[in-house]
Order: sequence, then C-alpha cells, then structure tokens
Amino acid sequence: MKALIIGAGGQIGSELAGALEAAGHEAWMVDHQPLEKCAGRGALEASFAQYPGLAARWLPALDVLQADRLAALIADLRPDTVFHLAALLSATGEANPDLCWRVNVDGLRTTLEAMTRYRRPDGADPVLVCPSSIAAYGPVTGRPDVLERGPEEGPLEPTTMYGVTKVVAERLGAWYSHQLKPTAGRGRVDTRLLRFPGLLSAVPPGGGSSDYANELFFAGARGDQAVQIFVRPDTRIPFMHMDDALRSLVELAEAPRARLTRTTYNVGACYPTAEEIAEAVRRRLDHPFEVRYVPDHRQAFVDSWPRRLEDGAARSDWGWSHRLDLEGMTDRLLHDCRASLAR
Ligand SMILES: NC(=O)c1ccc[n+]([C@@H]2O[C@H](COP(=O)([O-])OP(=O)(O)OC[C@H]3O[C@@H](n4cnc5c(N)ncnc54)[C@H](O)[C@@H]3O)[C@@H](O)[C@H]2O)c1
Repeated sequence: MKALIIGAGGQIGSELAGALEAAGHEAWMVDHQPLEKCAGRGALEASFAQYPGLAARWLPALDVLQADRLAALIADLRPDTVFHLAALLSATGEANPDLCWRVNVDGLRTTLEAMTRYRRPDGADPVLVCPSSIAAYGPVTGRPDVLERGPEEGPLEPTTMYGVTKVVAERLGAWYSHQLKPTAGRGRVDTRLLRFPGLLSAVPPGGGSSDYANELFFAGARGDQAVQIFVRPDTRIPFMHMDDALRSLVELAEAPRARLTRTTYNVGACYPTAEEIAEAVRRRLDHPFEVRYVPDHRQAFVDSWPRRLEDGAARSDWGWSHRLDLEGMTDRLLHDCRASLAR
C-alpha cells in the first residue's frame, strides 16, 4: 500500500513508518513539527537508517489546520491509505479545548474531504485509519457495567473534550464510509477506527493521561530510586504495548473490507493497576524503587475511562490477537527505554 502518516512524528507515527516498511508497504510521513523537534525523532532516524528511501519520504512540515495545503498534499500524493494520527491528547486537549476540537475534528474532516476526490488504483474507496480511544467512554448513570467492561457498542458518554472529539471522529468515519451519497468526482472513504487503550513504548508520551505508566518504565530504566506519579495505586485502565498497537493498525488497514462489520473496533491487551505496573518494574530492578502516588487533575480523566475493553469483534472479523501481557511488556519496555536513554 502507498500510505501517508499524518502526525508522523509522535509516539505512534514515529514507529508506524518502520512497521509499514517492514510489512512491505511504502510510507510517506508528515507532521507540523520539523523532524528535529519531533518526540519520535530517535525512532524515526532508526527507521530511516534501516529502510533506504524512507528518509526522502519525510515531507516538509504541514499543519492540518492549513486546510488548503493539507488537501493539496493529499490530492497530489493520492495515498491509498492514510493513517490520521495528528491530534491533541487528553491532558493537553483539556487544557486547550478549542485547539483540541480544531486539530482532532477539523483536521480529520479536511483529510476525509480530500480523500473523497480520488479512488484507489483498483477503483476501491481509499482507506483512512484513525485511532479512537478508551476516552470515548465515560460514566453512564445506572450503567456501572460500561466502565467495568468497555462494551463495543457503547454507550459513549465522554467527560473530556478529547473524548468528545473521538466520538465525533467515530461518527464522521461511519458517515464517510456508508452515508455519503457518491456523485461524479466525490466518493466514499473506507474509514476504520480503533479504540486504543493507553499505549506503552520507549518514545516519550505526548500529553495523555495514561502517561503515568510510561513514567514508571522510564524511571525504572534511568535507575531512579524514587518516582512520583499522578494517580492512585488502585487506578486500573487498559494498556497495550506499541508493537501490538502498530500491528493492529496495519492489520486493520490490510483487512478485506468484506470482512469488516463495523467502522470502529475495540482492541484490548492487558488491564493492570498502577501498583501492579510499579511492582512489575520493581521486580526487575536491583535497587529500591519507591513510588509516590500523588493524584492530580488527570486522576478524574482516568477514573472516567473503562477498566476493560471488550474486543470480540476485532478478534472474529479480522483475527486481532495481542501478543504482550504485562510481564512481556515490562521486559521489553525496560530494555527499550534504557536503549532510548543511551542514544
Ligand atoms: N498514545 C496513546 O496512548 C494513545 C491512546 C489512544 C489513542 N491514541 C491516539 O493515537 C493518535 C496518535 O497519538 P500519539 O500517541 O502518537 O500522539 P502524539 O502526541 O505523540 O503524536 C501526535 C503527533 O501529531 C502532531 N500534530 C499535532 N498537531 C498537529 C497539527 N495541527 N498538524 C499536524 N500534526 C500535528 C504532533 O506534532 C505529534 O507528532 C491520536 O489520535 C491519539 O488520540 C493514542
């Protein structure tokens, strides 16, 4: 596939480029930050060294709010698949809700509109893959099971602006996939969304409320003897290792459309409390590792998210299966964070 990653310099995008190349696809990348300012610069440069030709497909900086430039880029490149990752995450988005709406919703809609103007070489609708999030959920009066199970069909009642933009993204995706009335020169976009758990990798996180887990892994890898995190020890949300998340993005993009029964899929992996993550890190260290739990405003965000994520549809429709649980993730992350800190 010829893929364009929008928001390619962040935690997911910087690793997705290499994952696409490894799977035999051609990745193009754009971000509003120049490469040297991207959080994922280290991961990108490692992929550039591994895959000849990839560095030349890192495009000049582009802000998704520059609608004309974004539409022109898509019209020019005609990617058969777009991975739309440009977004403000939960904590940053709540601090700046107006910008969160504009980047997460208006930026996505500009991309979708541009993609209605062309077909894939085989005549099929172009595919857009976009992450949604567990933040699309929220507490529902009289329905404690919603936060206990994370049911695929919802209901979705988010409490943050970030979560609101994710629900809108899901509904926009369904509209562009199924409701848009095709006319000459304007067709549908085969939109596929994944409701992701908190994602864990050795790339510094970008302002999400699941960052406390990344902070534990980075602190352990640095050899810190004490660390402070911003949630209670009993805080439990779904988590997934980045490698599983990347595989889910690529597998969903590759899945034959006829096998898909929904536009949005949940994907789950493991469900540890903050204390269980801290303990998994501590067991692998040969020095004390004291964790101070000092909840701040982000505690309310994670408390509004589900503690599990039902993902039966992804498993039956396109064969989703996670590979890393908490123990496997902890081994990998401590190793990878140490390597990242050494670079
Ligand atoms: N990381 C997670 O734990 C997680 C979990 C669930 C869902 N998601 C979703 O996955 C997607 C990517 O997340 P991520 O973790 O890689 O985020 P990130 O913040 O690390 O990366 C986002 C990238 O988008 C870029 N960007 C921001 N505003 C832009 C703009 N106006 N124009 C162009 N680029 C812009 C940023 O520079 C950054 O490189 C988001 O939609 C996010 O909501 C992430």
